[in-house]
Amino acid sequence: MGGPTRYRRLLLAVVLAVTGVATGVAGQAGADERIVGGSRASIADHSYMVYLATVDGFQYCGGSLVAEDKVITAAHCVAGERPADITVVAGREDKQSETGLISPVASLWVHPDFTDVRDGADVAVLTLREPLPYRPIERAGADDAALYEAGKPGLILGWGRTTAGGEPSRFLLGAEVPLVADADCANSYSTFKAESMICAGLPEGGVDSCQGDSGGPLVVEGVLVGITSWGEGCALAGKPGVYTRLMAYAAVLDEQV
Ligand code: ARG
Repeated sequence: MGGPTRYRRLLLAVVLAVTGVATGVAGQAGADERIVGGSRASIADHSYMVYLATVDGFQYCGGSLVAEDKVITAAHCVAGERPADITVVAGREDKQSETGLISPVASLWVHPDFTDVRDGADVAVLTLREPLPYRPIERAGADDAALYEAGKPGLILGWGRTTAGGEPSRFLLGAEVPLVADADCANSYSTFKAESMICAGLPEGGVDSCQGDSGGPLVVEGVLVGITSWGEGCALAGKPGVYTRLMAYAAVLDEQV
C-alpha cells in the first residue's frame, strides 16, 4: 500500500490545510469552532455579558452587568489598574464589529482581601460612567446554596483562548460545564478553598474556560453564581476550572452594587 496511501494522506492534509485557511478568512464562525469545547453564543441571549478592554480596544477579561451601571469581574483582571485604563464593551458579540456600547469606568472596587487567585476573594466591581441599556443578570444571594449543588449545569461565556496557549476568540463563545463537588475539587487542587471558590468541568476535561475568559460569568439556572478565576492549563482531565463562589460575597456585593 505504501505509495498511494501516503499520497492520499498528503492530498488530504493539503485539502484540510486549504480548507482551514479558507475558514480562517471567512471568520472563525464554524459550529465546531470550539476548542475549549465551546460554540458561538449570542449576545442578545446574554445581554449582561461584557468584556474589559484596554483603551486601545484590546479585550483581556470578561465581566457581567449586575446593575445598569455595575459590572462584576475578577479582582485579578483589574487589581492595580486605574479606572481610566479600563473600558467596558457591552452588546458586542464580534470583537471586530462596532456594535454595542463602550463605557468608561468611573470607579473601581477590588475586594480588600484579594492578593492571589489561589487565596480567593477574586472579585471586583466596576462602576460605569453611564448606565447601559442592557439587561443585567441576577446574582446569587446569601441563601442560594442550592444553586451550588454538584452536577448542576453551569454556563460559561467568554472571548478567551480556544486552546491552552492558543488564540483568543473573535466571537463570544459559550459552553456548559457541570459543577464539581468541593471534595473532588480539593483532590484536584491543594489550594482549592470551598468557602470562596466553586469548580466546574467534566472529569475527562475537554470543556473549560481559558485565559482571557477571567472575570466572566458562571451561570446556573439563569443566576450568576461564579466568576472565572483560575485553573491548571485549560480543559485538562482532572483539572476543572475554578470560579469565585459569588454567594460567599453576597453581603459585601450588596454594599457595592
Ligand atoms: N486566569 C484566567 C484569565 O485570566 C482564567 C483561567 C481559567 N482557567 C481554567 N482552566 N478554567 O483569563
